[in-house]
Amino acid sequence: VLAPPGELLGVSPDEKYNVPAGVREKLGKDLLLNPKHPLGILWKTVQDYFAEQDPNCKFFDTEKPVVNTVDCFDKLRVPPDHPSRSPSDTYYVNKDYVLRTHTSAHQCQFLSQYPEITSFLCAGDVYRRDEIDASHYPAFHQCEGVRLFDAEKVSREEVLEDLKKTLEGLAAHLFQLKTGEDTMRWLDEYFPFTEPSLELEIFYQDDWMEVLGCGAGALVLRNAGLDPAKVHGWAFGLGLERLAMVLFGIPDIRLFWSDDSRFSEQFVPESFAQKTKFKPFSKYPPVLKDISMWIPEEFADNDLFEMIRDEGGDQVEKVDLMDDFTHPKTGRRSKMFRVTWRDMSRTLTNEEVNAKHETVLERLLPALVMLKSQ
Ligand code: PHE
Repeated sequence: VLAPPGELLGVSPDEKYNVPAGVREKLGKDLLLNPKHPLGILWKTVQDYFAEQDPNCKFFDTEKPVVNTVDCFDKLRVPPDHPSRSPSDTYYVNKDYVLRTHTSAHQCQFLSQYPEITSFLCAGDVYRRDEIDASHYPAFHQCEGVRLFDAEKVSREEVLEDLKKTLEGLAAHLFQLKTGEDTMRWLDEYFPFTEPSLELEIFYQDDWMEVLGCGAGALVLRNAGLDPAKVHGWAFGLGLERLAMVLFGIPDIRLFWSDDSRFSEQFVPESFAQKTKFKPFSKYPPVLKDISMWIPEEFADNDLFEMIRDEGGDQVEKVDLMDDFTHPKTGRRSKMFRVTWRDMSRTLTNEEVNAKHETVLERLLPALVMLKSQ
């Protein structure tokens, strides 16, 4: 992979660089900061839940995704030979800097940068070299949460209890579930930076679904300049895409990166409360046909729409009025409509659309003449 000229988010590439152009394009898209994007909506929903639970909780979502390997791996006790560090799993900008593989890369940074903070969430885009299918993509988003406790006042058991209660509450809030054994279960997990480590699954739409990984303990606190004898803590990491896909009925992870207004216009900041569900649209290309005509006064646009609908059925996606002109001298009015033809399951050919378009015009003509002669 060829390195770009100059720096990537302030970091100079070297021969270890392995970020392809398609992944580099994703940097700076800031999907989480868009209040109308499903991921931005979910991030806001998570923040609202934590703000309510814990008024001291701080939120971060503007950290750059290029981090050094010390923050991403060493401080989290990821062993030097662990496969997650390998360039076949991780995007390197140079030998010391990577595209963060998880938001845990910021755990120690925030804890040492802001000693007064006892709880925070940090969300951002993360990157992993991975297979590509409907639910895997080399760029995705995570939300990290950390909470600290005074070790003299709160026991390890109580920390673990608080972790479970908080995250069960979050899952219940997101998926409108009651907490309890038939809807949620905890499984043992392993992360090098928490001990014990757990995974939360919820029973949703007839199946157990992994929601998050988390853990308690004091393993990394020393690396953040804290004294493990004085503080306990818990942390969790939540993958946002999979949850947003389930919540909003989004079938393919690539849609999150789509510029298509047919996707983005389906969501508003209130979409979580309104339970908005994604309506599928065709991924095949459109064929556009324009109709320009002089309009008799009595002509109703709806007559034209009906004729087109009648001829095209569901292959007509929309009809837009592109131009509406009244001649200053004669007072005659002209309109130009653009018809978007598109099939849900295949690419339409220009020829077949032309044939239908011609039929529409043939039907339209007598209507116009008739109106004219009235
Ligand atoms: N960083 C872990 C992951 O990406 C999730 C995690 C975060 C686990 C915090 C424990 C504590 O899978």
